[in-house]
Amino acid sequence: MFEVLPYLEPDPILGLSAAYKEDSNAAKIDLGVGVYKDEQGNTPIMTSVAKAQNILLERENTKSYITPQGHQGFIDNMLTLLLGDKSPVLMENRVAGVQAPGGCGALRILAELIARSNEKARVFVSDPTWANHIPLMGSAGLQLETYPYFDKEKAGIRFDAMMDTLKEAGKGDIVLLHGCCHNPTGADLTNEQWDAVLELAQERGFTPFIDVAYLGFGDGLDEDAYGIRLLAENLPEVVIAASCSKNFGLYRERVGLAAIITEDSKTRDIVQGQIQSVARGSYSMPPSYGGALVDIILSDTSLKKEWMSEVNSMRNRMQSLRTMLVDKLEENGAQQDFSFLNTQKGMFSFLCITPEQVREMRDKHSVYFVGSSRINVAGINQQNVDTLARALVSVL
Ligand code: LMR
Repeated sequence: MFEVLPYLEPDPILGLSAAYKEDSNAAKIDLGVGVYKDEQGNTPIMTSVAKAQNILLERENTKSYITPQGHQGFIDNMLTLLLGDKSPVLMENRVAGVQAPGGCGALRILAELIARSNEKARVFVSDPTWANHIPLMGSAGLQLETYPYFDKEKAGIRFDAMMDTLKEAGKGDIVLLHGCCHNPTGADLTNEQWDAVLELAQERGFTPFIDVAYLGFGDGLDEDAYGIRLLAENLPEVVIAASCSKNFGLYRERVGLAAIITEDSKTRDIVQGQIQSVARGSYSMPPSYGGALVDIILSDTSLKKEWMSEVNSMRNRMQSLRTMLVDKLEENGAQQDFSFLNTQKGMFSFLCITPEQVREMRDKHSVYFVGSSRINVAGINQQNVDTLARALVSVL
């Protein structure tokens, strides 16, 4: 029966790693998949995570099942991290939440929950958005619409056009927003723009769905939560998918949180049962390990402090890599102004070059990044930045 299925090309993001591995050029550069890398190009286990692993090894005394909602300590700690320790919605018991298998798992079960509540819900996603948002939302049967977001010519946000389109969204519709460090563009809403989005949501009645996979990589852990907290505290309903892949470096352990802020605590209890039933019907329960590690870190004052300082170092390093690339491009005579890279946030930016130029970067210079011109800034280092800048100037 399976012979009827069509052949699919490799995933546009994950497929890059395989292509990079096969390239025999010693000077090859990997700016593809969104994974943090240190100066040596490695993705080591964070020190706070390594310490938590030792604690867990001592503490864990069974491999019996956990519940469909996962570790309650993980859920509570993550909600406090995202919503703040004085969050009114937490005090009012208006947040349903489950530990999910990664940010993808959270997005997917939340999409299923939305489809259960309103099968006609339209999901407005930014143009462009993370490529995997489309299948994650679409496979749950939700109808996708786009709103204008990024202007490649000006390397900035098309905020007026975005707001004009979102005026068409109403009650029962979902607007997917990136909490911080927009993937793929690195262009984030300002606090004033978040304020305007809140006003529009209040006026139109749509439900914001915030995907936050890079908390702490933009301006800081609290600063990056501005939009999430603003909407959570001022709207009856908000959906949140959070990932611990990047800021805890737990990629392969698949750790995420799916949370839903509801109008009142009675609805919260209903939604809690529903989201658990979606989880039970898809993968039964999340893997325990990664959630247990995050719980250990966030419950321990000194480990939490250590983790926060590691996140700060990663953020500062990525910011300095942005500056280094902009300077090197200028030194190498780039005619185009790349200073926008310095104002963008997090792991990604669009270089705003053409697909042909991206292809030439790969074929002639062995520099790998997504066809949209998205680069993973963390893949730059002192050793490869000159080669990268020269290659880029040569294809411009
Ligand atoms: C990325 O955008 O590169 C990461 O989130 C990895 C992925 O799964 O696509």
